[in-house]
Amino acid sequence: MFVVKIGGSILFDEENQINDKLISKYAKTIRNVINDTEKKCTIIVGGGKLARKYIAIARKYGASEETSDIIGIESAKLNARLLISALSDNAYHTPPNSIEEFKEFFKQTKKVIVCGGFKPGQSTNAVAASIAETTNAEILINLTNVEGVYSDDPGKNPEAKLLDTITIAELETMMAKHQIKAGYYPLFDPTAIQIVKRSKIPLQFASGHNPENLTKIISGAKIGTSVIF
Ligand code: UTP
Repeated sequence: MFVVKIGGSILFDEENQINDKLISKYAKTIRNVINDTEKKCTIIVGGGKLARKYIAIARKYGASEETSDIIGIESAKLNARLLISALSDNAYHTPPNSIEEFKEFFKQTKKVIVCGGFKPGQSTNAVAASIAETTNAEILINLTNVEGVYSDDPGKNPEAKLLDTITIAELETMMAKHQIKAGYYPLFDPTAIQIVKRSKIPLQFASGHNPENLTKIISGAKIGTSVIF
């Protein structure tokens, strides 16, 4: 069993259009990986620009952080439904609404379960971490819009280096510096970190722009950044 988080940020292009070619490529890659390995797999998809656009308007109307989070959760589930459509018969037909519902689905099916958000106050990374914990997953793969974890913010510091490994304590310190609000959770939010830390879940970050990175990581390649305990 392995768990894959696909960053919502990579599902939309520069013009805010849905990156349907990338979603198709993901469906093909996921199919190949599950056929080749015969392992169970759960995918969690983020909310991306859809979440942020809706949250921005809701905030303008005075929506609370909780309401904004709920909009993010629903956006992530809508994105999940696109991947479910692309995976067709290989996917369970609907995203679960909670970890309890996920566990029911997981007992019922060998198909890929594609999830969005679960509850306010966390990001889809916490969903991914809870699922990896409850299923005793061999790895949690986080495919995102950067190559991995950097020593500093690469947007601000040109000297920032991509790290091959990072300890969970270092990741925790790094993420604690980020502000948290609906639609803007850090690369890995505090709830997700606590879950990964207490259960020592193998965690790897890599670029999600190339779905083949999933195949490479499942075959044991050390690309991106691995978290060590
Ligand atoms: P994410 O923050 O996880 O998606 O969920 P993203 O913005 O696409 O980020 P990456 O690229 O995947 O890392 C979107 C929003 O949905 C709400 C939060 O407001 C979050 O910012 N959310 C998501 C929750 O409140 N609870 C959840 O369980 C999941």
